[in-house]
Amino acid sequence: MRKALNVYIRLQQDQAITGLYFWHQISQLMNVLLFGSGGRESALAWKLAQSPLLDHLFIAPGNPGMKKYGTCIGLDWKDRDAVSHLCEAENIGMVVIGPEDPLVDGLSDFFAQTPGLKHIHVIGPKKAAAQLEGSKDFSKQFMERHGIPTAGHRTFEEHQLEEAKQYLATIDGPYVLKADGLAAGKGVVILDSLSDALHEMDAMLGQAKFGAASSRVVVEEFLVGIEFSMFALTDGKDYMMMPEAKDYKRIGEGDQGLNTGGMGAVSPVPFVTETIRKEVLTKIVEPTIRGLALEKMDYVGFIFFGLILTNKGVKVIEYNCRMGDPETEVVIPRVDEDLLPLFADAAKKQLLTRPMAKKEEAACAVMMVSGGYPEAYSKGRTISGLEKVQGVHVFHAGTAEKDGQIVTQGGRVLCVTGMAPTASAALTLAYAQLDQIEFEGAYRRNDIGVDLGLRNL
Ligand SMILES: Nc1ncnc2c1ncn2[C@@H]1O[C@H](COP(=O)(O)OP(=O)(O)OP(=O)(O)O)[C@@H](O)[C@H]1O
Ligand SMILES: [Mg+2]
Repeated sequence: MRKALNVYIRLQQDQAITGLYFWHQISQLMNVLLFGSGGRESALAWKLAQSPLLDHLFIAPGNPGMKKYGTCIGLDWKDRDAVSHLCEAENIGMVVIGPEDPLVDGLSDFFAQTPGLKHIHVIGPKKAAAQLEGSKDFSKQFMERHGIPTAGHRTFEEHQLEEAKQYLATIDGPYVLKADGLAAGKGVVILDSLSDALHEMDAMLGQAKFGAASSRVVVEEFLVGIEFSMFALTDGKDYMMMPEAKDYKRIGEGDQGLNTGGMGAVSPVPFVTETIRKEVLTKIVEPTIRGLALEKMDYVGFIFFGLILTNKGVKVIEYNCRMGDPETEVVIPRVDEDLLPLFADAAKKQLLTRPMAKKEEAACAVMMVSGGYPEAYSKGRTISGLEKVQGVHVFHAGTAEKDGQIVTQGGRVLCVTGMAPTASAALTLAYAQLDQIEFEGAYRRNDIGVDLGLRNL
C-alpha cells in the first residue's frame, strides 16, 4: 500500500491525469513471484523491480545479488503445496517462470488447474507447448508441419540402435547427435569422425548416457553458418519481438573447447540487418506463432529462436521455451518499456503484435566463471571488489552468502553487462569493471565480440 501511495503521488505530480486513471493504476499493482536463481532471473528481477505496477517481488529461490530487487525465499518449485501456500499467503497476482525444467515439468499447468491459483497470471508456456524445447523430435516435427526452415533430421528410438548406426554410416560428417529430452545443455554432441559418432550413438541410445533424455536421439544435418538468437514475448496468437543477441558458448577463446551455458553475449548483433530480421519474421517467427495457434497450444511467455545464418538463408537450430542465459542479461537492459503490463496483457491473451520498445544503446555481457567449469570446480570462494564496480550491471548467477560475504556457488558466478552507444564501448566498460572483481580461480573469456570486430585482443 505504501508503494501504491508513492505511485499515486508520483502520478499526481508528474502528469495531469484523471482520478479514474490513478485508481486504474493503483488497482493493478501486484505481487509477482519469479522462479529461478541465475543470471537470467537476476536481469528479469532487476527489470520487474523498476515497474511502477509492482507491489512486491518474491524470488524463489533467488540469490544474494537479487535481494535488492525483492524477497528471496527458499521455495522449491517442485514442492507444489509450498508453492500454493506462498501464493495464497502473499496474494501473488503473477508468476514468472525463468528456467525450462519447471515449464517442461508442467508448473504452468499446475497454476491453471489448481482452484485458488487459477486467477494468477503465469508467464511461461504449458507443458504441452514447452515440448518445443523439451523434445528435440517434437520441435523438428512441428517445424516440418509448418514449413519452418531447419536442418534435415532423422529420429531413432531405443530399439533402433542398429538402424541408427547404419544410418550414420550412410551420411557425411560432421555428425550432429541430439538427446531428445532436456540434458542441462549437454545433450548435443557434434563429431567429425564416423567411429566417434557410432560410439556416441551407442552411449546415448544404447547405454542411456543422458538417462531418459537420450532414449530417443535426433540426428541432424550439419549446418554451416553464423549463429544468433531472437526472442519474442507471445500470448500464443500475437507477439512482440525483443532485441536480438549473439552468445558465446564455448569455454575457450576463439570459441574452442567444451560447451558451457554461455560465456558472454552482445546485443545488437551487427550482421543482423533489417533484411535478415524481416526474413526471420516472415519465415520463422510468424509461422511458429501461427502453428502454435493452429495446434491450440497454450503458449504464454517467451520463445527463444536459436538461429543460424547459412548460405541458404536463416534456419532454426532450436527453440527454447524461455529466455536464454546470458542473452537475457543483454536483451532485458535494452528493453525500453515496462515488462509488467506486457506480461499482464500476454496472460490475458490481449497482446498486440508490435516490436518491444528498445534502447538504441548496445549491451555486452561477460561471464565470470569458476576455474574448471564446465567440468568440476570448487565452490565457496570469497568474491571481492564488488563494491568498487561502477557504471555496469552486475547480475549474480551462481553466488551464495557465507559469514556475511558473497561467495561462489556455481560454475557461472557473475555476469557483468556494460551499456554504451556502441558495442565496442560497452565491451570496454564491462571488461574494465570486471578487472575489479576477484575470486580464487576466476576465469573469463577476453574475446567476447572479437569475432564481430567489436574488440581487439
Ligand atoms: N544442425 C546443426 N548444425 C550445426 N551445428 C549445430 C546443429 N545443431 C546444433 N548445433 C550446435 O550445437 C549447439 C547446441 O545445439 P542446441 O541449441 O540444439 O542444443 P541445446 O542443448 O538445446 O542448447 P541450449 O542449452 O542453448 O538450449 C548450437 O548452438 C549449435 O552451435
Ligand atoms: Mg535448447
